[in-house]
Amino acid sequence: ETFRPVGGRRTLVDGTGPLVDTVHGEVAYACAQFGGEVVVRGEKSDASSSYDLVLRVAEAGGSGDTGPGLEGVGELGSLGGLGSPGDGELGAEGFAIERTDGTTIVTASGQPGLLYGLFHVVRLGENAFRGTRARETHRPATALRMLDHWDNVAVHPVMGQVERGYAGGSLFWQNGCARQELERVRAYARLLAACGINSISVNNVNVHETEAHLLTDRIGEVADIARTLRPYGIRTHLSVTFAAPIVLGGLSTADPLDEAVRGWWAEAVRKVYSAIPDFGGFVVKADSEGQPGPFTYGRSHADGANMLAVALAPHGGTVHWRAFVYDHRQDWRDRSTDRARAAYDHFAPLDGKFADNAVLQVKHGPMDFQVREPVSPVLGALPRTRVAVEVQSTQEYTGQQRHVCWLGPMWSEALRFHPESEQRLRVAELARGGLVAVANVGDDPFWTGHPLAQANLYTFGRLAWQPDADPHRILDEWIALTFPTASERLAAGLRAVLHGSWRTYEKYTAPLGVGFMVQPGHHYGPSVDGYEYSPWGTYHFADRDGIGVDRSAATGTGYAAQYAKPWAELFESAASCPDELLLFFHHVPYGHVLRSGKTVVQHIYDTHFEGAEEAEEARRVWAGLADLVEPAWHARVAERYEEQVRGAREWRDQVNSYFLRKSGIPDGRGRTIY
Ligand code: GCU
Repeated sequence: ETFRPVGGRRTLVDGTGPLVDTVHGEVAYACAQFGGEVVVRGEKSDASSSYDLVLRVAEAGGSGDTGPGLEGVGELGSLGGLGSPGDGELGAEGFAIERTDGTTIVTASGQPGLLYGLFHVVRLGENAFRGTRARETHRPATALRMLDHWDNVAVHPVMGQVERGYAGGSLFWQNGCARQELERVRAYARLLAACGINSISVNNVNVHETEAHLLTDRIGEVADIARTLRPYGIRTHLSVTFAAPIVLGGLSTADPLDEAVRGWWAEAVRKVYSAIPDFGGFVVKADSEGQPGPFTYGRSHADGANMLAVALAPHGGTVHWRAFVYDHRQDWRDRSTDRARAAYDHFAPLDGKFADNAVLQVKHGPMDFQVREPVSPVLGALPRTRVAVEVQSTQEYTGQQRHVCWLGPMWSEALRFHPESEQRLRVAELARGGLVAVANVGDDPFWTGHPLAQANLYTFGRLAWQPDADPHRILDEWIALTFPTASERLAAGLRAVLHGSWRTYEKYTAPLGVGFMVQPGHHYGPSVDGYEYSPWGTYHFADRDGIGVDRSAATGTGYAAQYAKPWAELFESAASCPDELLLFFHHVPYGHVLRSGKTVVQHIYDTHFEGAEEAEEARRVWAGLADLVEPAWHARVAERYEEQVRGAREWRDQVNSYFLRKSGIPDGRGRTIY
């Protein structure tokens, strides 16, 4: 549907190579549906003026208006990869667009740029073909815009097929091996390219026994997936286990400084590249939640990452080394160990020690994708390391795609944060290694289980391309592309249910940045003390007198001091700490008065009543759109709203009752608390 503006028109495609063929195929498909014609240069007249649309990859020594970025024309070199998003004005992935004399001209200096230029035209719709348009250029802020699939090949007895997946089974793996029928993977690649994503990792960061073999004897299956993704400019990556030399190679050690181990990896990588010449690299979760890692051998994480970086470097690959390293065997009575501190404590001292093709992949918050966390201090602490920011598009802690929770504003806030000081670089600029999201898709017919969760996928891709974009404008784009004939009433309804959905979710779940309070294991639904006495380091410390974690330097764990000024000072004191993070940084009495003027406990009551009401209101708005949305789509969302409203009430009642009992302080407004 959304290709309608390109169909019905005359298009010249000018360039050669596999991605140009993809562009040609897309336009030909639109013409077959809606009329029009697509011509390849040389086929007929190539005078631009006789076309409505010209899509051109600039040739060497061409018109000169596209800069020297010709490295992008070659097939593999064009797929973007390490480092800056490419040389020249446009790089390999950028494009220029202008319109003169009735012709819209998209120029790219690399094939991927042409593909992104085509999708830009589609987003513009009829506006791409109106009046004149001065030349403007677009290029991504970062070369790596990646989705990590937490997919298992063999269904895991506890975690299922997609760890933290809420959209059915895996798109890639079925019945214990790669799908034979890859049509849907191709459609997925097309969807991702339209969002601006250019890399994916195809298996879970927790690498179990079966999945370990993807690196070696089962690489052919990965190659089949990579072949299907490649025409849309998407590079394939693999999660590997640090213990691979032992579990796959039969060596007695995985010590990163051992010569036999290094040789084993070099050879394994060489074979990977002979199967997948444009392979992106590895994702590694080491010494984290039970996964093997360099600590076993008394080596540092730089030693571990660099060993893999050395093996990948000759082939142009990257190692994505995750910073999610913490002690998951804590005792709640030990108030000095703080999980939030862990990534900084482990990695800040290693700044400057990582190889150029090693990327440190850091979760945006210091804990674990909670609905509200401060931005991780790690992001400002390693100026000599290539850092990537990881967000979680799959809604593990934000309603598991049964609740609507559009995360655009949360991600945007994190990307705009200036970790070093108020004046210096933003997270988006510090993230030279790229932006990564844990994927929220599966083989569900709506892709994301909850159809409205598609907005998170789209928003992530577009923010990764342009991190300072207004997320609300991106949401409008998503609405226009998903419902190309949407009336203003439908668009307004969609905005109404999505815009504030993150804050609504925050209101009825864990308050004031304290996090968790979820049911253990699967993490869905409320359990205020579910993790309170567990070894995972996720405590709120509520007792009869107060709640929150003291992370100040003066009396607490010292976490606040991991930030640069002015943040360290701001977070250090309960008087200046932003309300929404108060309980993340401070343990306070229930009667503590927030900057808003309310007491903590009254804030808890009010937000929980409001949050549940907002969920009911969203359900009502959605019901009112029934005549405007395709019935199956509407029904799926309506069914999920029933569960969201039920869940929001459950959260409200459990949280309010808990704090009424703990604090003994009644609701100032006398509402019923069960
Ligand atoms: C969370 C999540 C795990 C996941 C982990 C990770 O803790 O619950 O399923 O493995 O994050 O990011 O590695």
